Amino acid sequence: MSNLCISSVFDLKADFINHEGDVKDLLKEIPDEFVKLVVTSPPYNIGKTYEKKIKIEDYVKQQEEIIIECVRVLDKSGSICWQIGNFINKSEIIPLDILIFPIFHKLGLHLRNRIVWQFGHGLHASKRFSGRYEVILWFTKTNDYVFNLDSIRIPQKYPGKKYFKGPRKGELSGNPLGKNPSDIWDIPNVKANHVEKTTHPCQFPVELVERLVLSLTNPGDWVFDPFMGVGTSAIAALIHGRKAIGAEIIHEYSRLATKRVHDAELGKLRIRPKERPVYDPKYKGIYLPPINIQLNKSGQAPLFEKRGVYKTGGKK
Ligand SMILES: C[S@@+](CC[C@H](N)C(=O)[O-])C[C@H]1O[C@@H](n2cnc3c(N)ncnc32)[C@H](O)[C@@H]1O
Repeated sequence: MSNLCISSVFDLKADFINHEGDVKDLLKEIPDEFVKLVVTSPPYNIGKTYEKKIKIEDYVKQQEEIIIECVRVLDKSGSICWQIGNFINKSEIIPLDILIFPIFHKLGLHLRNRIVWQFGHGLHASKRFSGRYEVILWFTKTNDYVFNLDSIRIPQKYPGKKYFKGPRKGELSGNPLGKNPSDIWDIPNVKANHVEKTTHPCQFPVELVERLVLSLTNPGDWVFDPFMGVGTSAIAALIHGRKAIGAEIIHEYSRLATKRVHDAELGKLRIRPKERPVYDPKYKGIYLPPINIQLNKSGQAPLFEKRGVYKTGGKK
């Protein structure tokens, strides 16, 4: 029996609103200032199975129409995180965040970070350096915004380091709760052998969205993904006691989003634990194995950067 209320139409009583169809139709239903976080990875106009490649000017115009509406539905203390990569035109790269930034700027939003998401795997280029990062543009609507830094701190590099002179001599010099994770995030992307991989060609890793959900929302807030794919943003939101709303135009992905959320509720969805460091062959065999998540029960484990600090054995 499911305790979670999943609805295919806009419903204030739902925990997860999964609209199968065009996001423009869902947006018509969402009241002003309803969501605390918009987090998404829109189509990049690169001819993936779910998109038709169009002129770049038309693509930017289409994005603008959706962004205007996303800003309307965003709470005054809320954030928008637009995760985006490159558009490739006749082997020339056009960084989409550079084209999209002016839209947000014109709407009066404030850019707080341009987060660089780096990862180890991708296509091997032969006529330029292989691309190994994308960006997340994090904007807030106002200057009075939610930012829960303590919930996403990572361990200090030198946790016991102390002031060696001055009035605080002998006291810990770093925050004992951990350090700020910075604006460069090293999180594996979801490729073929990733535990979270579905049939979607470019899904978010859950931990990427978890960081944004934990830092930019509070429990009970609504998290909106206008281009939801297989529901990764919804999973990250629901794990941490937030509510999720999103749209996906392709039936199979929308179905998978609901299935993954159900699996999570039953404790059957396997994800890469966020406290697991990036794979390094030197430490083969001692990595934390994938975990089965359970909604609302995960708590926030610290994020380990240092290798070899954990005891659990496990496969890659
Ligand atoms: C880059 S993928 C997002 C993947 C997602 N982050 C995940 O973790 O699964 C973009 C998604 O937007 C969907 N999409 C494209 N146009 C859409 C529209 N107008 N309304 C709703 N979804 C759309 C595509 O089918 C695709 O699944």
